[in-house]
Amino acid sequence: MTRVLVAYATRFGSTREIAAAIVHELNSAGLDAQAAEASSALSPDEYDAFVIGSPLYGGKWMGIAGMFAAITSDRIDGKPVALFSIGTLRVVNEEAGNTEHREFMASLIEVAPNLNVVSDVLFNGYFERANLPWYLRIVDRFAPTPQGDHRDWSVIQSWAKSLVSEFNFE
Ligand SMILES: Cc1cc2nc3c(=O)[nH]c(=O)nc-3n(C[C@H](O)[C@H](O)[C@H](O)COP(=O)(O)O)c2cc1C
Repeated sequence: MTRVLVAYATRFGSTREIAAAIVHELNSAGLDAQAAEASSALSPDEYDAFVIGSPLYGGKWMGIAGMFAAITSDRIDGKPVALFSIGTLRVVNEEAGNTEHREFMASLIEVAPNLNVVSDVLFNGYFERANLPWYLRIVDRFAPTPQGDHRDWSVIQSWAKSLVSEFNFE
């Protein structure tokens, strides 16, 4: 059975819920998937395929997710990897959101050229201004982020299903 690690970073929890939805779809299709927060304590050797994701903050992934992808890439010997970003910019400006995701993917591949990326995607995220600590409210005042839950679960489920054929080695 194909063992899949869905590794994610999150600040406010919306990406954790997306990771859980991806795991659910993969397991429903007969794979053996589990989600874990990206960390150097994870053992990539125990998995056959990887999904790695992070919210975009200021146009970039959270450091721990990018670092996990880069470090893992040298330890997994070309095993398939699917990448996802979460963000809300695209809700108000589709082109700007897509560009941010594409540019971050390009910079990730630059530092992790051995990553065997079989798919990458940008999902709409979830943002509540009221949850922000004061210092992020200041950042948000200068680059306002669209509020509300923009996650589209059917889009997330379809993408997860599309990974099954990429990850199924039997
Ligand atoms: C300070 C701040 C900066 C953000 N920057 C971006 C950004 O550059 N691009 C984007 O698409 N979304 C941006 N977002 C939206 C987050 O990516 C979105 O809320 C995401 O769902 C948060 O994920 P989390 O709950 O897992 O931390 C930003 C949100 C905040 C609060």
